Amino acid sequence: MTRNEAKKRIIFALDVDNLADITKWSEKLSSDVGMLKVGKELFTSCGPAAVQAVKANGGSVFLDLKYHDIPNTVAQAMLAAGRLGVKLVNLHALGGPEMMEKAGQAVRKEFGESERPKILAVTILTSSTQETLKAVGIEYTVEQMVVRLARLAQESGMDGVVASPVEIEAIRTACGPSFLVVTPGVRPAFAAVDDQKRIMTPVEAIKAGADYLVIGRPIARAADPLKAVEMIVDEIAAGAE
Ligand code: C5P
Repeated sequence: MTRNEAKKRIIFALDVDNLADITKWSEKLSSDVGMLKVGKELFTSCGPAAVQAVKANGGSVFLDLKYHDIPNTVAQAMLAAGRLGVKLVNLHALGGPEMMEKAGQAVRKEFGESERPKILAVTILTSSTQETLKAVGIEYTVEQMVVRLARLAQESGMDGVVASPVEIEAIRTACGPSFLVVTPGVRPAFAAVDDQKRIMTPVEAIKAGADYLVIGRPIARAADPLKAVEMIVDEIAAGAE
């Protein structure tokens, strides 16, 4: 894979809570990564200005707000995300087929295929265990649920899923090559593991079938963040086809 292709596969997790830090990171990294991820903490703190600040510095945005609500509410939220000009947005597959279908139909109708945000589904949060599922009345295993929900998301018109490294292969097998798989929980060989548990290196995750890697602390906490990005890009470019 070329270095340029490898760069586009990286989504930097913008886990900050103020506009000054957004500007600092998006100025520094926008042209060296594929996207920057705006999550719940940042969006709750700064609102749409967070997205606008990333875009003003040339960055593309993955809006990680994991919608889960009645179909009409989620469809309207998706339209609002599309109007902000984000490239990727997500919802919980557990919201069900009607919620996902309405969300997909709404953005396709309003923005057209090439302009619309792509929609990812979260299957089962990686923080959930067998016990968590049992507590909420689900008797299937985590892997059974992940594959079931990934298939449902695909049938409901979603573009892909967010999945932990260990789930990538089962999802690829179930959903085929063109369904997007976005993977957090990756750790380059040079970085600390932090609180991530079932990890892979970036190149292992790409080889297993991930389209995008969400990476936060290994870049944000590096002594030289740009150098850290470069090392990750080199590793992917050298190891992946
Ligand atoms: O710093 P780190 O690389 O662990 O950041 C990963 C990002 O991906 C964080 O924003 C985290 O919330 C998110 N994430 C995750 N694991 C999941 C889902 C999302 O680490 N299962």
